[in-house]
Amino acid sequence: MAIHNKSHYNHALMTLNKMNKDNTLKYKNSTDFEIPEKSMICLSIMDCCDFLKTIPDESVQLICIDPPYNLELAGWDTYDNYIEWAAKWLNEAFRVLSKTGSMVIFGGIQFRNAKSGDLIDIIHYVRNNTKFKLVNTIIWRYKNGMSAHRYFANRHEEVIWLVKSNEYYFDLDSVRVPYSDDDLKLALKDKRLNPENTLKGKNPTNVWEINRLNGNSKERVGHPTQKPVEIIERLVKALSYPGSIVLDFFAGSGTIGRVCVKEGRHCLMCDSDSTLIEYFNKHLKLMQALGQNIDYLKAENITDFFKNTIKE
Ligand SMILES: C[S@@+](CC[C@H](N)C(=O)[O-])C[C@H]1O[C@@H](n2cnc3c(N)ncnc32)[C@H](O)[C@@H]1O
Repeated sequence: MAIHNKSHYNHALMTLNKMNKDNTLKYKNSTDFEIPEKSMICLSIMDCCDFLKTIPDESVQLICIDPPYNLELAGWDTYDNYIEWAAKWLNEAFRVLSKTGSMVIFGGIQFRNAKSGDLIDIIHYVRNNTKFKLVNTIIWRYKNGMSAHRYFANRHEEVIWLVKSNEYYFDLDSVRVPYSDDDLKLALKDKRLNPENTLKGKNPTNVWEINRLNGNSKERVGHPTQKPVEIIERLVKALSYPGSIVLDFFAGSGTIGRVCVKEGRHCLMCDSDSTLIEYFNKHLKLMQALGQNIDYLKAENITDFFKNTIKE
């Protein structure tokens, strides 16, 4: 049973409480895990619903997706009944997610007509038809974007963070943001804050200011809706641990795979468009140019992937 004390600064009690808690992933962070020598990567070119059926139950730690919303942005962005289609992959995602896992979904709140979908449709569906719990809605704010004359120019998107149970893994320490020197001095004087955590940096909060990729951004590999590495990196570090399995079944350019190779996570990627392979190779070349290690193990299929990533 937890020992309670009014002081937030009694580290001996805090440590004892932590030790008393069971040894689940809930209380671990990245330092508790060995980083695999090489990440295992599996790329599949097929429809996401067929792909998901091949993944074992509760085998994935993080699902990170940026789905199409039927906004007619591209050829792949067209479905007759959006939520009926989305329900198929949402239900499968729930099945494959581990009890300590998280699912994050990028989107916006901007429907066009009855056929299009948005994040509100997805939230409504998961709330009423699944056992997912919503932990945070992250506002991704950016300063760069299209100009507008008939409405206020859009400068944010949303990312919802869903979990299957309260046992979810969350490594805040790995994504804390450093204080400026002046703010650190003030924060260390603030009696409400735990000085040990203050020294580690601030909670990044649920409003993230990270610019979108411009057309001429050095990170661009050619995909029209490619997401910035910085935002994917924060999600991967906080919600998955070294050696765990990350899944993106709308992989696009494979930004998630790039981050997994760098951060020592195993990664399953799927996209209906085979250009994923070309884009991913471009990501690897960019990593190489930055002096990052790009050694990874390629799994030819799902069976090989799980044979080599899951330890008995
Ligand atoms: C918004 S993009 C993802 C971009 C990605 N996050 C990145 O950083 O590059 C959505 C992707 O979903 C893919 N897609 C659309 N419908 C699909 C389906 N039914 N199955 C698999 N992939 C699909 C598209 O080909 C597109 O590349």
